[in-house]
Amino acid sequence: MLTTHRAFISGASSGIGLATAKAFAAAGARVALFARRLNILKEHAAAIGERAFALRGDVRELRSMEIAADHVKKKWGAPADIVVVNAGIVKIGEIAAISAEDWNDVIATNLTGAFNTTHAFLPGLLEGPSDLVFIASTASYDTWPTWGAYCASKWGVLGLARSVAHEVRQKGVRVTIVAPGAVDTDIWPGEKKPQPEKMLKAEDVAAAIVNAVSADRRASYDEVRVMPASGLL
Ligand SMILES: NC(=O)c1ccc[n+]([C@@H]2O[C@H](COP(=O)([O-])OP(=O)(O)OC[C@H]3O[C@@H](n4cnc5c(N)ncnc54)[C@H](OP(=O)(O)O)[C@@H]3O)[C@@H](O)[C@H]2O)c1
Repeated sequence: MLTTHRAFISGASSGIGLATAKAFAAAGARVALFARRLNILKEHAAAIGERAFALRGDVRELRSMEIAADHVKKKWGAPADIVVVNAGIVKIGEIAAISAEDWNDVIATNLTGAFNTTHAFLPGLLEGPSDLVFIASTASYDTWPTWGAYCASKWGVLGLARSVAHEVRQKGVRVTIVAPGAVDTDIWPGEKKPQPEKMLKAEDVAAAIVNAVSADRRASYDEVRVMPASGLL
């Protein structure tokens, strides 16, 4: 059980982040659901119950993440001791064709957003013991045509996460990188989406995250790759 824990989850208005918020709350943790769409967040937080609250912000802006970290600390009287760096977007297109705007948005959300979240919440996590979970991807280890911006951002998240893991390993912060294969969520551009039966469900990834943070403190699930058992990616 996670009854003494306080979890902040970016990108919790849908998909993996929402499933993770529900799984943490079911395990007894308090949860802060963070994303841009406040109305949806509020509905989900109300459905989860009194252990959950909604927090609006944008991972692309460091100030927004600093405000979120402060807000969480004031609300709970202590900083988050679990942070899930999850918010992300997909924009596809060959490198010759993708717009600079789309490239920048993918990097700003997935990679700089991961930095902003980590940078803002790390001082609180270092009060430890604590868990910092990065949602990377199988696209952090592989590449495909038209997925260049997304792969670059997710390889970057892997580099960021491995680096910070070295920095905080002796300081009471456990870093876990969860890298899923295809998960049936709204992030997929329709024409690229595999058949749903060949995909994971968001709950499968949430279960891996809960498992990692629930492990005895002597054990660290450094990198967890969760793949659909009958899918290709
Ligand atoms: N689905 C997959 O196959 C798969 C596989 C591997 C890894 N992943 C990763 O899993 C993570 C979650 O994706 P998902 O599949 O669950 O997709 P999703 O259902 O589309 O969820 C993405 C979440 O990120 C939030 N978000 C996007 N931009 C944001 C911003 N600028 N600031 C704050 N929140 C923002 C969205 O909320 P708002 O729009 O309300 O802000 C939403 O809650 C992503 O990092 C993705 O790369 C997904």
